[in-house]
Amino acid sequence: MEQLFATGPYSNPVTPVLASRALERRFDAPGGAVEVLAGVSLSVQAGEVVAVLGPSGSGKSTLLHLLGGLDRPDAGEIYWGDFPVHEHAPRQLAARRARYVGLVFQNHYLLQDFTLLENVAMPSRILGEPDEERAAALLTRVGLGGRLDHPPSKVSGGERQRAAVARALALRPKVILADEPTGSLDHARAEAVFDLLVTLAAEEGTAVVAVTHDERLVDRPDVRKLRLVDGRLGPTDVVGATPTVA
Ligand SMILES: Nc1ncnc2c1ncn2[C@@H]1O[C@H](COP(=O)(O)OP(=O)(O)O)[C@@H](O)[C@H]1O
Ligand SMILES: [Mg+2]
Repeated sequence: MEQLFATGPYSNPVTPVLASRALERRFDAPGGAVEVLAGVSLSVQAGEVVAVLGPSGSGKSTLLHLLGGLDRPDAGEIYWGDFPVHEHAPRQLAARRARYVGLVFQNHYLLQDFTLLENVAMPSRILGEPDEERAAALLTRVGLGGRLDHPPSKVSGGERQRAAVARALALRPKVILADEPTGSLDHARAEAVFDLLVTLAAEEGTAVVAVTHDERLVDRPDVRKLRLVDGRLGPTDVVGATPTVA
């Protein structure tokens, strides 16, 4: 029996919660096709926080959309655990995505005609398993316990992003994909919301992939930094460091 657990091709039992292999995505443009992603490979373990850095236009949002199954790659593979995302059209993935992936965007996308509590309870309601208790607990955890009945328009920008973080966690996803989650906030508020996202994800055992152009935000030891350069993803040990030229 011990042979089953010996070293070999199946010796690593830890499947990443999110992985991509050799992702390619190009778009038609007036001057010809633009290769935005030219072979992006990524592996995210449970509970890990990964930041994808890169300037505006480097393909960060394109990558996040592919990882979330919202767009389809031209080539390459994407896995949510063992599930091959790339083999399915985005609209076929809706139900599975709702449970597996929590999404946070720069614009919170909260529904204006609903209270914060209703917004955070909405994912569970849509699945026919309403869980207002968890929604209220999450809102309380992000400091909005006193704002449950407020509509998004009656709270601050930072509070809306906190509510968006709470909503992303509502269905206990395995991974949160965040696209410039604090991009609409000043630095102090951005840091507070990002810290909350990282802390809360750790408490919940949820992995995070956050794309941002804000290097200061992710300059912390509990975040693995990757940089999108020329359509490829490379490691970067020190944020803001200039590469040494040999
Ligand atoms: N749907 C699309 N159609 C055509 N071009 C696109 C599309 N989405 C993104 N692009 C182009 O791909 C490049 C990368 O965009 P994006 O992923 O939004 O970058 P980032 O999020 O890093 O700012 C840009 O040049 C953008 O214009
Ligand atoms: Mg973007």
